[in-house]
Amino acid sequence: MTGIGLILVLVSFLAIGSLQSEPRQCDTPNWGFQCGTAISRSWGQYSPYFSVPSEIDASIPEDCEVTFAQVLSRHGARAPTLKRAVYYINLLDKIHDGAASYGPGFEFLSTYNYTLGVEQLTRMGQQQMVNSGLKFYHRYRSLARESVPFIRAGGQARVVHSAENFTQGFHSALLADRKSTVRPNLPYDMVIIPETATSNNTLHHSLCTAFEEGPYATIGDSAQAIYLSTFASPITTRLNANLPGANLSDADTIALMDLCPFETVAASDPDPAALFSPFCHLFSAVEWRSYDYLQSLGKWYGFGPGNPLGPTQGVGFVNELLARLSGGEGGGVRDGTSTNRTLDGDPRTFPLDRPLYADFSHDNDMMGILGALGVYGDGGAGLDNTTRREPDEVGGYAASWAVPFAARVYVEKMRCGSRGKSEEEKEGEEEMVRVLVNDRVMPLSGCGADERGMCTLKRFIKSMAFARGNGRWDKCFD
Ligand SMILES: *[C@@H]1O[C@H](CO)[C@@H](O)[C@H](O)[C@H]1NC(C)=O
Ligand SMILES: *[C@@H]1O[C@H](CO)[C@@H](O)[C@H](O)[C@H]1NC(C)=O
Ligand SMILES: *[C@@H]1O[C@H](CO)[C@@H](O)[C@H](O)[C@H]1NC(C)=O
Ligand SMILES: *[C@@H]1O[C@H](CO)[C@@H](O)[C@H](O)[C@H]1NC(C)=O
Ligand SMILES: *[C@@H]1O[C@H](CO)[C@@H](O)[C@H](O)[C@H]1NC(C)=O
Ligand SMILES: *[C@@H]1O[C@H](CO)[C@@H](O)[C@H](O)[C@H]1NC(C)=O
Repeated sequence: MTGIGLILVLVSFLAIGSLQSEPRQCDTPNWGFQCGTAISRSWGQYSPYFSVPSEIDASIPEDCEVTFAQVLSRHGARAPTLKRAVYYINLLDKIHDGAASYGPGFEFLSTYNYTLGVEQLTRMGQQQMVNSGLKFYHRYRSLARESVPFIRAGGQARVVHSAENFTQGFHSALLADRKSTVRPNLPYDMVIIPETATSNNTLHHSLCTAFEEGPYATIGDSAQAIYLSTFASPITTRLNANLPGANLSDADTIALMDLCPFETVAASDPDPAALFSPFCHLFSAVEWRSYDYLQSLGKWYGFGPGNPLGPTQGVGFVNELLARLSGGEGGGVRDGTSTNRTLDGDPRTFPLDRPLYADFSHDNDMMGILGALGVYGDGGAGLDNTTRREPDEVGGYAASWAVPFAARVYVEKMRCGSRGKSEEEKEGEEEMVRVLVNDRVMPLSGCGADERGMCTLKRFIKSMAFARGNGRWDKCFD
């Protein structure tokens, strides 16, 4: 055997071994699956949160002092939506009715029934949010020990529950910190904004008619259909060969792939050998990369920068963020899109003097907000519908890198180079702004970011011209 051949055998042995050996504690459901494994990082928006590689050191620079932090979080891992659950149940019936036999590895399907429930946070999803609250406390400890975050959540149950579990994690870190000076009680106060079709809610899109119902509403699906036709057919052929008579379509193949993440995130305290659902083992690592890219296209063109009205949906939140970053000095929120002026005009529901803010939302809404923030620059221009691009090739974007379950965007403001300076000198220093997406520093484009990816507050605000001009909100009602 040649040297290279030997290495390949060893690599494939290790790859299989890593899937079956004892998982690290951080990769069990009861720990929120927070480290992630190769395949769980390829499940698009159904990937459990993991710390995304960062080209710029993501820690708080030694010479900087954080003065403000905002987290924008997706809810934790959940069961399938009702619509998808109905699809899966019908698909399983079709397999049970049609399949004349079950090939090697497919035997479990003959007795498999759907028991995942619908829509609700799973136990792992709750744990992810507890972990997220702990992590937020520890990262911003100097502020957190003196002030609890001001919290808002979209009204859907799993979003509110995610916010609650986050505060529980934050709270336990606070109680364990002997230097904390505040003693709040659980549950923490939060503003819950309804997610109805007529509600002005910057954490949930609904008002922009052309985006909800017009031709813009199908761009994501079209992009996915193009890519699906490039990779799915050999997989579907293999599945049909193993399930003769089931007559599966490419869409059915994707549905069977979905069941891998959904079953895995629904597990708790599993037998390590059963950590991954048997659905996961029906597909190869490269097939999972294609699955991830399919989801990346759906989010990008459906809700993100690839949709002409996607980033506009995130404008309201960005304008709120600018008001928060400016504190009292900015004169409050200036927005002509989806903000609720009643809520944002009242310091009880929209204070401007807090150092910490935490907002809870959904993947689709976060895609619009990331688009309005422009964190992907024009990296996504390379998001080809026919050729898979790895996240490194497209500015660090993938659905799994941007909006996994329990995703979190941090916007932090800090004062740098202030060591040894007097309070007066510090006051005069311009504060710096930085954005991290799942622990990856997104170097700010358009405001002359330094080598640490940061811009001055003034330049950052100036660079948010798209949001300050209400994006393309006028196109919503053409
Ligand atoms: C699945 O459901 C069917 C119909 O309710 C039942 O007959 C079967 O035993 C169930 N299978 C398993 C594995 O629970
Ligand atoms: C999440 O919050 C709910 C409601 O307070 C609680 O019942 C549950 O135990 C929490 N989950 C975890 C993992 O702490
Ligand atoms: C704005 O918020 C107020 C206060 O919660 C609420 O009564 C009102 O219905 C909201 N309006 C819209 C359009 O969402
Ligand atoms: C991908 O497909 C969508 C939907 O058809 C389209 O709007 C977009 O321009 C395509 N992207 C590229 C890079 O061709
Ligand atoms: C297989 O499914 C397709 C739709 O996906 C349908 O048009 C076709 O009639 C089915 N074939 C059989 C033999 O059931
Ligand atoms: C809700 O948003 C619409 C569209 O921008 C706006 O006309 C309306 O005044 C807003 N309502 C509130 C209560 O802010």
